[in-house]
Amino acid sequence: MDLIDGIMTLRAIRRYTPEPVTDDEVLTCLRAARQAPSGGNIQPWQFLVVRDAATREALGEIYRRAYDRYEPAMLAATPPLRDEAEAERHRRTVASARHLAEHFAEAPVAVLFLMPNISMTLRDAEGPLDVGSPYASVYPAVQNFMLAARALGIGTTLTTVIRIYQDEVRQLLGIPDRYEIAALVPMGRPRGRFGVAPRKPLGAVTHWERFGNRRVDLD
Ligand SMILES: Cc1cc2nc3c(=O)[nH]c(=O)nc-3n(C[C@H](O)[C@H](O)[C@H](O)COP(=O)(O)O)c2cc1C
Repeated sequence: MDLIDGIMTLRAIRRYTPEPVTDDEVLTCLRAARQAPSGGNIQPWQFLVVRDAATREALGEIYRRAYDRYEPAMLAATPPLRDEAEAERHRRTVASARHLAEHFAEAPVAVLFLMPNISMTLRDAEGPLDVGSPYASVYPAVQNFMLAARALGIGTTLTTVIRIYQDEVRQLLGIPDRYEIAALVPMGRPRGRFGVAPRKPLGAVTHWERFGNRRVDLD
C-alpha cells in the first residue's frame, strides 16, 4: 500500500478477530522495526514475541490488573473536555482501552520491545551530554513495526501500562533485570476498520520560523 496512506490510517486497533498472524508476517514487522533509527545506531532493542496461548493469558491477566489501576488514575487526571464531541471521543478511547484490558489474550501475538536500563549518557570534561532520552532510540522501532503490520492489514496498539507490573512480566517471560519494557504491542486482524483518527489541527501545533508564528487556517 501507499506509505502515506498507511501512516495516515495507522491507529490504535484493540479488537481482534481470531484469525492467526503468521510467523512470516511477524518477521516482516520485526525486519521493519530493525531498520528504525537509533542514536549512534546502537540498536538498543530486544524483541520478545509471545504466541503461546497460556502465556498470553498470563500476560493478559497482568495487563488487566495494570489497566485497572491506570484507568481511574487517568480519568481523575483528565482535564475538562472542551465539548460533547471531544467527550464522546474520549469515552470511545477509554471503552476501547478497557476492551483490550479485558480481552488482551485474544490478540494472537503480543510483542514486547525491551531496552537495557543501563545509562547511555555520554560525558566530556564539562559533564554529561544531554543528547536525548534512551527511549528515543526504541520507539521509532515500535512505530516501524506497527506501520509494517498496517501494511499487512494487521492491527496493533502501542501499550505501556504493563510497566506498572513489569517485575511480574520479567518473571513470567524470563527477562533479565537489566531490561525494561519499552512497549507491549498486541497484534491481530482488526474487527473494526482502519481509518484516519482525529487529531489537533496543524495550525494549533505548528510554528513557522519563530515560536508563536502560527497559521491558524491549517487543519
Ligand atoms: C507511549 C504510549 C503509551 C500507550 N499506552 C497504552 C496502553 O497502555 N493501553 C492502550 O490501550 N493504549 C495505549 N496507547 C495508545 C494510545 O491510547 C493511542 O495511541 C491514542 O489514543 C491514539 O489512538 P488513535 O490513533 O486510534 O486515535 C499508548 C500510546 C503511546 C504513544
